[in-house]
Amino acid sequence: MCSVPKLQFRRIILNRHAPVSRLSSVEVTVYPYECDAYGHMNEAAYLQLFERARWEALARGPGQDLFRRLGVWPAARRATVDYQLPAFPGDVLRVELEAEKLGRTSLELHQRAVRIKDGALVAELQIVFVMIDGEGKPTPIPPEIATVFSGRVSARPGELVRHDVEGAALAVDMRGDGPALLLIHGFPLDHSMWAHQVATLAGWRRIAPDLRGAGVSDAPDGVYSVATYADDLARLLDRLHIERAVVAGHSMGGYIAFEMLRRHRSRVMALILVDTRADADNADGRKGREDMIEVARKQGAVAVADRMVPRLLGRSTQQTQPNIVEQVKAMIGRTPVTGIVGALGAMRDRPDSTPLLPTIDVPTLVVVGAEDELIPSAASRALASAIPSAAMTTIPGAGHLAPLEAPTAVTRVIAEFLEALPRP
Ligand code: MLT
Repeated sequence: MCSVPKLQFRRIILNRHAPVSRLSSVEVTVYPYECDAYGHMNEAAYLQLFERARWEALARGPGQDLFRRLGVWPAARRATVDYQLPAFPGDVLRVELEAEKLGRTSLELHQRAVRIKDGALVAELQIVFVMIDGEGKPTPIPPEIATVFSGRVSARPGELVRHDVEGAALAVDMRGDGPALLLIHGFPLDHSMWAHQVATLAGWRRIAPDLRGAGVSDAPDGVYSVATYADDLARLLDRLHIERAVVAGHSMGGYIAFEMLRRHRSRVMALILVDTRADADNADGRKGREDMIEVARKQGAVAVADRMVPRLLGRSTQQTQPNIVEQVKAMIGRTPVTGIVGALGAMRDRPDSTPLLPTIDVPTLVVVGAEDELIPSAASRALASAIPSAAMTTIPGAGHLAPLEAPTAVTRVIAEFLEALPRP
């Protein structure tokens, strides 16, 4: 891609809290004219080396004429080189390319040069491009280019791609192709609760984000609300150039799915409501949120996990699946306290979605774990019967975290529901 008009050089600590998709890697050799006898490559040499690697990666992928074909050009606006080790003539470096942020008109890439012979990290580059049109004006990134650079599909299981929404970056696990299936996790959990569904629902583009304040997404301070979460997800769909998705919400994720219906109805193609409810908190419920906020602030996320895990998991799971108990404890224990407090406030203040139910006119599936203590089957039956033509399935042997406790059964009922949907 094009050379850099204006450069800044300083050492930076790169934000490493989430691995992102590796789009391609190429090998480049260090030439004698690029470095001195002490192994010092100057900034210009590094910029050229990284630029060479970018063009090479494009040549091996969509072609070096990608931008010209689409009538746009990536103008480099800022670049920062971070030196780690000397590089000598003849060293072969593997340059990995990752998209860190994909905005409407901007693209931030991160490149790492790793010495092949010993795997040592030699240098890194952080570079921001703005897409410009023929007149030099910023222009939206065409979907074809977003697809190439955004790491649309996570490269390897467990690798997350970060996408900017308003005031935060969300880490997202994405797999597969086809119509979109957005999987919204519950509280105080993260995308990994959907691991089985994300791994196996072939024929669908599965998108499982960490909500703001959860997992490895940003956890900004401030007031969270179901509206903020719903807007984040609508923006995420924008970033991914997705018009409509089947929206699956687990518990708090269901509260957010209702809010998506209120605020972004045209984006919801069908609805899957898992272990969730439509009514708002009553006075006792709100008091319970306040108490938990106090616990989180004073004792941290692990204390929240200790209190919640026995209620989140079904009796059978607690007795027979100790690995799931540990997994959920660890998941909650690493949730940022800001995010826990934010989510508790959002749930405490969420609106009553009961009046919305009769207006839901998209295909809907309600799923509940037979041992769910937080949302008993009777409440789920009432939810399903208030939504015109909703179907309901109860998952035996599972509690409130049915997608994780009985993954195969939940994936099967979701797959059957998806198969019956009219294809867009
Ligand atoms: C959840 O699983 O998202 C929460 O338990 C929901 C809630 O506390 O209302």
